[in-house]
Amino acid sequence: MQPRRSAQWYSGDVRNSYIHRAWMRRGLPADAFDGRPHIAIANTASDLTPCNAHLDEVSRSVADGIHRAGGIALNLPVVSLGETQVRPTAMLWRNMAAMAIEEMLRANPIDGVVLLGGCDKTIPALLMGAASVDLPAVVVPGGPMLTGTFRGVPLGCGTGVWQLSEEVRAGTLSAADFQGSESSMIRSRGHCNTMGTASTMGLLAEVLGMTLPGVAGTPAPDSRLLEAAHATGVLAVDLVDRGLRPSAVMTRGSFLNAIVALAALGGSTNAVVHLLAIAGRLGVDLVQDDFDRVGSHVPLLVDLLPAGRFLMDDLFRAGGLHAVLAEVRDLLDPAALTVTGRPLVDYLGAAQVYDREVIRPRERPLQPEAGIAVLYGNLAPDGAVIKPAAASPALLTHRGPAVVFDSVEDLRARLDDPDLDVTADSVLILRGCGPRGYPGMPEVANMPLPAKILEQGVRDMVRICDGRMSGTAYGTVVLHVTPEAAAGGPLGRVRTGDPIILDVPNRRLSVDVPDEELAAREPAPETVKAFAAPARGWERLYVDTVGQANTGADQSFLLGASGDQVSRESH
Ligand code: FES
Repeated sequence: MQPRRSAQWYSGDVRNSYIHRAWMRRGLPADAFDGRPHIAIANTASDLTPCNAHLDEVSRSVADGIHRAGGIALNLPVVSLGETQVRPTAMLWRNMAAMAIEEMLRANPIDGVVLLGGCDKTIPALLMGAASVDLPAVVVPGGPMLTGTFRGVPLGCGTGVWQLSEEVRAGTLSAADFQGSESSMIRSRGHCNTMGTASTMGLLAEVLGMTLPGVAGTPAPDSRLLEAAHATGVLAVDLVDRGLRPSAVMTRGSFLNAIVALAALGGSTNAVVHLLAIAGRLGVDLVQDDFDRVGSHVPLLVDLLPAGRFLMDDLFRAGGLHAVLAEVRDLLDPAALTVTGRPLVDYLGAAQVYDREVIRPRERPLQPEAGIAVLYGNLAPDGAVIKPAAASPALLTHRGPAVVFDSVEDLRARLDDPDLDVTADSVLILRGCGPRGYPGMPEVANMPLPAKILEQGVRDMVRICDGRMSGTAYGTVVLHVTPEAAAGGPLGRVRTGDPIILDVPNRRLSVDVPDEELAAREPAPETVKAFAAPARGWERLYVDTVGQANTGADQSFLLGASGDQVSRESH
């Protein structure tokens, strides 16, 4: 067996190995340094990340498993991002969290790592950091919360907020009832229970091969999560002994499997930027068009909010991820491995569906073609994405006049103005919300409809934005328009009244203005102003070096891997 990485710190009788050992002797016996694997538990538990607050308990079960298998478990708190708490948007800090995780994994005397995440950005950041260090790693997804109900009706967190707040604005729900639903929304520990970003990324972590097979989607309060956490600790010791690294697990085949699963599950559009960013750390040749080419003809099989009716608890009860994957097994790469060393498809033989309303058979899908469509045209030369499964079918081919908002503040100020020149056929455009423009590419693309349109009973309009959309949101929303307005994209030169053409079947997104005229227009000054580089700190580094959405919105200097070697001693 190869010498352990941690032995570079601990072995020998020189002064520095003495120092490294002595300070760790608080609780660790002398034989902790006899060649046992030292395994970090990278833990995103935080009171300010409510979706991950239970991970300390999960961590204890992981540690028990590591100890039982003869390893040394080491708690490593890492940067945590609470999606609902962090301003201006958690996405501004995803790359910072990934960088901090990467550096702490590399800098410390560890042989492998168990990654504990849940809330939206935490699993992507953990996987990005682990990919760049490429130490043996395994994820325990924190799991979704149980279903809350209000007046007997299930509430999908996130999706329910959007729906109820629109009802208030439309005058069909009182403000008091809206407030009353607040305490019912978050019923238990765990992350959002719709097929939003957290659910999607937890499930895709397993499809990528990075979890103990069968764990993803286990509800956070379910005792089987702790059982799986214990088993993951045992597995982590074996994983280190086998030396299986993320680069050998997360191959192109694994990412293409994730794209198939993303479509069949009806997962979040945010998975596009996260998967591209993780692949970018590994040097895997994954491009945005792969999502359309591989995923767009995959049927939607899971009837979960926001595209359908049920919630994550129902998916688990109905057979879970493996039951879904078994339905599309022929579309999966049979060679793609999991952290056990066996292929993902090996685990699908025993899968069963217990509720055919939640997990549909291939011949009776929720929608025959799901996944992500990638659009191009003079409004999005480098692409834009739409999730047709969450859109209104009648709006997937549409022509209408633009109503342009230069910022979120502009939108809020004018949206409900009775004099706003807008009809149900208008196309709402919100710009200045890309990675550089906001900065941080917030989830604002699912902009609310103008009050006077809501009052007509209309519940969906075509909306276009260079930002992202919450995975719990729905509607005919074109996102991730690239290049963004603040990077000189044509979105910054569209004017209110310009005819916009959306043609999803033919993958087109354009403005019906001659190209020469569009190019000759000055960009709206507000979009230039939006990109006024901040003076200092992470935000400064972020806007100076962040890439565009179509490549994962990672920092240019964080692409690729640096490996696990540290060349110099600390003393
Ligand atoms: Fe944490 Fe939704 S707010 S997963």
